[in-house]
Amino acid sequence: MVPLDRQDATHAQLVLEMLLESGTDFASGEALSGKLGLSRTAVWKVVNALRDRGYAIEAVPSRGYRLVRVPDRLTGLEILPLLETHDLGRAVHAFDSLGSTSEHAFRLAAEGAEHGEVVVAETQTAGRGRRGRTWASPPGKNLYTSLILRPELPPQRAPELTLLAAVAVAETLRGEGVKATIKWPNDLQAGVKKIAGILTELSAEADRVHFVVLGIGVNLNAASSDFPPEIAEVATSVTRVLGRRVNRAAFLARMLGGLEQWLDTHEQEGFEPVRERWRELSSTLGQEVLVKAERRELRGVAEDIDTDGALLLRTEDGVERILAGDVEQVRSRLRP
Ligand code: BTN
Repeated sequence: MVPLDRQDATHAQLVLEMLLESGTDFASGEALSGKLGLSRTAVWKVVNALRDRGYAIEAVPSRGYRLVRVPDRLTGLEILPLLETHDLGRAVHAFDSLGSTSEHAFRLAAEGAEHGEVVVAETQTAGRGRRGRTWASPPGKNLYTSLILRPELPPQRAPELTLLAAVAVAETLRGEGVKATIKWPNDLQAGVKKIAGILTELSAEADRVHFVVLGIGVNLNAASSDFPPEIAEVATSVTRVLGRRVNRAAFLARMLGGLEQWLDTHEQEGFEPVRERWRELSSTLGQEVLVKAERRELRGVAEDIDTDGALLLRTEDGVERILAGDVEQVRSRLRP
């Protein structure tokens, strides 16, 4: 596959946008060349470069071109034409393999990358989970992405963004048909199995966030055999739930759109709307749970999250406010 130079990549992206807009109709060669300011032969070359990259494009004399199939690959070419965002995805850094998309995004942000730049990889060799765990990242199946955000927030409000991201990912999964819920603070579940996870890392000084890296992993097309056995038991994927594959670029584009809308709401109206939606999507509230925090384990009923996103747990000794930890649902002895 001949690599596309910058100009060819821009043309390929514009052709794809027009073909996507035309849907099942044909886009005429004349319209394409007029809009792009390219000769008909140059358009033909772009179409062939796209075919070379796995796009199936039908060409019918006197009717034009029609997009029949897009490859299931995650590069700017697949993602950018689908984006309807103003900031998120303004640059897409795509890799076949990375240690961790978050590690890479952190480095880019430290070197000055802008708000909204996105890192994505087909696989991760050292995917990071919360609390020092690893994130299984089988190649070519799922979504592993990290977003660079530069919010105007004091560092103590950064956890709000994690809950915000959980809401946006849950809603994107629901849009796909998976009835996802959120286990405090930000595990996305389908039933009792984990389907996505969020890892928020930040660089800050006492009163100002320099940047936040929002790392999001979503199990989209993985079969259980794609995971190590211990993970396969507790994890699921959209494919396993729905019995069909998901186009990863389209999922990412929708997820970025949802995230951006929530970021705008958060900027304009504060945390309260996010908190309300998080509560609606939560599988934790109202449940008897065991919370494994840093140095202690607590059992009680998860009553609410407070205005900082902390979990309010009613224990035998009163209400405890928990800022970080893992939650396990305890089967109530009262229930059969
Ligand atoms: C969790 O433990 O639930 C959080 C998992 C976060 C995984 C994602 S995958 C993309 C990004 N890069 C990483 O190394 N981790 C996050």
